[in-house]
Amino acid sequence: MSADSLRLAVFGQPIAHSLSPLIHALFGAQTGLDVDYRAHETGPGTLRAALAHFHQEGGTGCNVTLPLKAEAAQLAQTTSERVQLAGAANTLLWRDRGWHADNTDGLGLVADLQRLGLNPAGQRIALIGAGGAAAGVLGALLATGPAELTIYNRTLASAEALRERHGAPAGLRAAALQHLPTADGIDLLINATSQGHRGDLPPLPEQLTTDSAVYDLNYGPAAAGLLSWCQQHAVPAHDGLGMLVAQAAESFYRWTGVRPEFQPVLERLQAQRGD
Ligand code: ATR
Repeated sequence: MSADSLRLAVFGQPIAHSLSPLIHALFGAQTGLDVDYRAHETGPGTLRAALAHFHQEGGTGCNVTLPLKAEAAQLAQTTSERVQLAGAANTLLWRDRGWHADNTDGLGLVADLQRLGLNPAGQRIALIGAGGAAAGVLGALLATGPAELTIYNRTLASAEALRERHGAPAGLRAAALQHLPTADGIDLLINATSQGHRGDLPPLPEQLTTDSAVYDLNYGPAAAGLLSWCQQHAVPAHDGLGMLVAQAAESFYRWTGVRPEFQPVLERLQAQRGD
């Protein structure tokens, strides 16, 4: 690190165990760019002050994670269409006299699905959940052109609202979560609920077979229950570690103009956790 380092950061709470500083250090090493990326513990309502201080110290780009993604979208001076659709931002970039907000979560998910050979184009997709995580990825999923995509949620009204926000195109449906166990014809099931954080998992259709695939936006312990269910039912399943690294690569590209390769960094993290 030097006075010329590109000053980057992530803001969130809790942030101590964030993998982002390591991921961006590895991107820096891979691309030969001198980046100084640090994690800042930042509670709700305090992001504006934290960003002002960060910018004063020379900060030009940052990630924003839970629980600050909606706050970041609101305080940014300009926002991408992705942020407007998601109502949330995970990437901020200093432009002229203010922060520009973008959201790379959905792009990260799609990049990881493609790495796994699970291109959503033409597929029948079940997206479970209609909260912030689901909203963050829906636009990018729809842009790939799935044959149909149904948002299943415990609170049907939230699924319907998310559908409306995306212009309710043909092929985008909203349904109550209790209908999921009888749903058949799912090629790709994506878990975007927060249940895994409490050691819980959504009710899964017994019809899911080895021809289907499951992707959990969570990773690590929060995805363990769902991955274990899938293993017992011989359904191919993946956690969201690849999405985490791929969304980081998209952020890095926005700050530096250089797009790092995310797969070698993902492999390093997978080896580190013993995959
Ligand atoms: P996040 O930003 O992680 O998406 P969130 O906005 O609080 O967090 O959304 C959590 C999602 O998990 C929602 O879709 C929520 O369903 P509701 O809209 O009905 O609240 C879903 N969820 C959380 N706990 C759940 C549970 N026990 N059963 C079913 N769905 C649950």
